[in-house]
Amino acid sequence: MGKFLVIHGPNLNLLGKRAPTTYGRLTLSEIDRKIEAYARGKRIKVKIVQSDCEGGIIEAIHKALGFDGLVINPAGYTHTSVAIRDAIEATGLRTIEVHLSNIHAREDFRRKSLIAPVCCGQISGLGWTGYVLALEYLRGSAEPAAVRKER
Ligand code: DQA
Repeated sequence: MGKFLVIHGPNLNLLGKRAPTTYGRLTLSEIDRKIEAYARGKRIKVKIVQSDCEGGIIEAIHKALGFDGLVINPAGYTHTSVAIRDAIEATGLRTIEVHLSNIHAREDFRRKSLIAPVCCGQISGLGWTGYVLALEYLRGSAEPAAVRKER
């Protein structure tokens, strides 16, 4: 049971062609099919959105008010977007930040996430399985007070 939103940020629609040694060879629709297969198996509902625009991502977060959680790969906006961070904080959605690559093992500017402090946690470097692991956590967990920061 449960309804979850998965957001893919900018340039992730180019997966498959885009730096496959960093991001893997699967296209975004192949990843989405894996997420949907997982959701069917666990009988949860998943809405999946991709947007290249900060505003589009923020609107999708607002529309997810009342969902049971959010899995977001903010892509390049991870490192720059106060507005996406504020949207997650304002909606109070339980959120996991996911990155296909290990952002901590790359350029310095990728190591800083403005989003992570308003999330339950971050999964980075596990490829597409990060999305499924994030859903597994969100669907199984209530509200672990020890993990979630006071808002
Ligand atoms: C990414 C990492 C970001 O630094 C980068 O801008 C992306 C993809 C990842 O999934 O590894 O576009 O979020």
